[in-house]
Amino acid sequence: MATRVKELWADRSNQMHYFKWLLSYSKPYAGRIILKMLMELGVTGMSLTMVAYSKRIIDSATTGNKFVGFLIVYVCLMIAMLFVENILGLINTVLNEKYSFGIRLQVYNKIIRSNWTTVEKYHTGDLMTRLTSDAGNVADGIINTIPQVIRLVIELVVVFFMLFSYSPMLACLGLCVAPVAGIASWWLGKKITKLQVKVQESEAKYRSFLQESLANLLIVKSFRNENYASERLTELRENRFHWVFKKTKMSMASSVAMSLAFQIGYITAFAYGALLIYRGEITYGTMTVFLTLVNRVQAPVMGLAQKVPLIVMILASAGRIIELQNIEMEPVSENTLESREIGVKIDDLSFGYTDETIIEDASVDIKPGEFMAIVGESGIGKTTLVRIMMSFLDKYSGRITYYDDKGNTENNNAGMRDYISYVPQGNTLFSGTIRENIRMGKVDATEEEMLEALKLSAGYDFVMSLPKGLDTVIGERGFGLSEGQAQRISIARAFIRKAPFLILDEATSALDEGTEQQVITGLMNLTPRPTCVIITHRKSILKYCDRQLLIDKKVQCVDLRGER
Ligand SMILES: Nc1ncnc2c1ncn2[C@@H]1O[C@H](COP(=O)(O)OP(=O)(O)OP(=O)(O)O)[C@@H](O)[C@H]1O
Ligand SMILES: [Mg+2]
Repeated sequence: MATRVKELWADRSNQMHYFKWLLSYSKPYAGRIILKMLMELGVTGMSLTMVAYSKRIIDSATTGNKFVGFLIVYVCLMIAMLFVENILGLINTVLNEKYSFGIRLQVYNKIIRSNWTTVEKYHTGDLMTRLTSDAGNVADGIINTIPQVIRLVIELVVVFFMLFSYSPMLACLGLCVAPVAGIASWWLGKKITKLQVKVQESEAKYRSFLQESLANLLIVKSFRNENYASERLTELRENRFHWVFKKTKMSMASSVAMSLAFQIGYITAFAYGALLIYRGEITYGTMTVFLTLVNRVQAPVMGLAQKVPLIVMILASAGRIIELQNIEMEPVSENTLESREIGVKIDDLSFGYTDETIIEDASVDIKPGEFMAIVGESGIGKTTLVRIMMSFLDKYSGRITYYDDKGNTENNNAGMRDYISYVPQGNTLFSGTIRENIRMGKVDATEEEMLEALKLSAGYDFVMSLPKGLDTVIGERGFGLSEGQAQRISIARAFIRKAPFLILDEATSALDEGTEQQVITGLMNLTPRPTCVIITHRKSILKYCDRQLLIDKKVQCVDLRGER
């Protein structure tokens, strides 16, 4: 029992935290949201005035007094309401779009500036769900649901007092629905919180599979997995549907309970009104107003109860977004290295993704201008070492210090990537033109620089032979190019950066010996010449390197210069 209370308390403070985040995020939009709310209140005011006028119209119809005047006011109000309602629709669309994109951009910026390993733990499909549907839920909640709740409360108070002035008895009867609605929504809120999490989890799984199977369509097709993929997608969708359906059933049950209470309230008011007419205590006009107002005092109560699941959903979505917001940003320090001659000193480095050590007590000093090969069997930790050197992985022990030939030093941090050009293992091209891909290395690169980088990476001839040259459009992960061609574009992307430190991770693995030779010659001709770390399985590359770092958990450094 005590733990349950604790859980509830913890959850409560979480929800408050989410709510505070929502408020602080929404601050810049407060003016526009308030304007929208005022306009909505205006619409409510107009519709209430119309109710009052409808009584006058009915009553004056029997006497004939001022009937036309009342009717004109009624029609004018109706037109004004229509006008304001449509303007509101427009404001809503614009506000919703701006607000939701604001959240998306903030989270996106956070993701791309956060610690890589932490973000990589999330499936892309899950991140997409948070960036799209969760951000959408939050936007809809702040722009629509919460203002609606405030409006409903105001409406409830106004209508209650209006009704009270006609008949205190009826006003109280009208509110009879409140406890039923209150209990139903409290119960519903609790149940729906749990179901909402299930819905979101199943949605993320569904999206993840959808995204991944489309991205790897070739594998699905090669293994004749079309039926399996289709069945799996259906299964995941059914799982999502199962939770959505459960949630809907829950809402329906409470809605039925509330409708019943509502109907009973209405019938009581109807019977009571009829009795008053029978006694001759009220007019038909007053009776109409009674019934409309009873309806209108109950509607906000019901409306409020129905908003409970929506608010739960907004808070759950806000929680999922805040989780991403709370990911640690990777530290970036100001660059203090002055010279382009850069080396890196690794001292007593140990690292493991899990408890198992991948790199143990490694120490090496890669000198400025040096060509260092990194060799070792597959899966031993070569890429891992490079990831540590580039600060993609941070939970290591030991020290990594970059230094220049003027004696400046800098501890390893994300800012050091300014000095590094990297050709990662595998195909890492984006969809778009070859030009756009190479530009990622240097966003303001000129045509000449691009062509020069292509020449050095042995990609010039094949790119020029394409009908559209640099403007050739390629698909995701270089679709439309051969593996070796894609590698040469990746190398050009790194070369154009002219960074003082170059890291190649199996960058020439798909090239024939002659083309590889051309790339290495290009690398040697880079001006200024960078310090170079080359991960390779190829012996042919070793003759160009000064030393090799053999990784076998323990790292061993061998001088190759004497062998040339
Ligand atoms: N994100 C990760 N979480 C846990 N273990 C990982 C992760 N990434 C890699 N590993 C493990 O770390 C070890 C080293 O992987 P790494 O990619 O560094 O090998 P490698 O030497 O580059 O191999 P290859 O020559 O095949 O590219 C492998 O055993 C791998 O299973
Ligand atoms: Mg590797």
